[in-house]
Amino acid sequence: AQVTISHGNARVLAELPTGESVVVLLHGATVLSWKDAAGDDKLWLSEAAKLDGTKAVRGGIPLVFPVFGAGSNGDKTKDLPQHGFARNSRWEFLGKSTSEGDSSNVKLDFGLSSESLADEYRKAWPYRFGLLYSVTLTRESLTTTIVITNDGDEPFEFQTLLHTYFRVKDISKVSIDGFDNAPYIDQLAARAAKTQTGAITFNGELDSIYTPAGGPAQPITLHEVGGRQCLRLVRDNLDDVVVWNPHAAKAAGMADFEPKDGWKTMVCIEAGSVRGWQKLDKGDAFEGAQTIHL
Ligand code: BG6
Repeated sequence: AQVTISHGNARVLAELPTGESVVVLLHGATVLSWKDAAGDDKLWLSEAAKLDGTKAVRGGIPLVFPVFGAGSNGDKTKDLPQHGFARNSRWEFLGKSTSEGDSSNVKLDFGLSSESLADEYRKAWPYRFGLLYSVTLTRESLTTTIVITNDGDEPFEFQTLLHTYFRVKDISKVSIDGFDNAPYIDQLAARAAKTQTGAITFNGELDSIYTPAGGPAQPITLHEVGGRQCLRLVRDNLDDVVVWNPHAAKAAGMADFEPKDGWKTMVCIEAGSVRGWQKLDKGDAFEGAQTIHL
């Protein structure tokens, strides 16, 4: 049996002969779905998510670049949309690769560059860059890798983040390990600097930027008390992790967030580089990745 690929005008689907699958929307190169062999989706996708290219996708794995949130880099970011333009641009599918005769994994490559960027974004961020985004599906993991190159003469600064929406059974029973002693910025408390003690649990809205104390090598695990789910997230060269759950009031205020009580069955764990700015000189490249293990 072979890896099955179907490539439509709007999305690419890959399925392993053993049943695991991934779906990537060309709008934003957004991973919409990642299913295990039993057909269980590990990602949360809003029932009201816009998939027609009119808005960033509410769910899955939107890609944040070149700015996180509203941006704070003065003139350089003032005209950029929230979370940048990558999640709002149409990417090109560059093809798939598998090792010869090996149907236990598949890698899908997507590209976006300054040349193919919409005029408004190019005006807002006039640098020459290339983005290569790879989505690798194996029987027991999903890896997403971003490679950013500076193809121009001017140096530029950026932030990037893999904004993963995980599906959970019950947010009140979720705990996330890997954050003990992590300094963090509480985005709900005027960006106050705090330090995490023990695991992250949820009893209300949460929106914080953590920098795990063990560095990018510090693994992060998602547990559900009484549930069987336990995912492990391993980062490469991504120092920061945003954890976000909007709870009832914020979910009510998002038109594309459905069902309205969907906040109970999702949590965003977002690996990235967003506390400071990564600088890329002419000709340089940055690579960052996450692997989510079942
Ligand atoms: C998170 C931010 O990464 O994304 C939150 O920390 C934000 O502050 C959330 O609300 C969703 O952002 P958006 O632009 O997709 O509504």
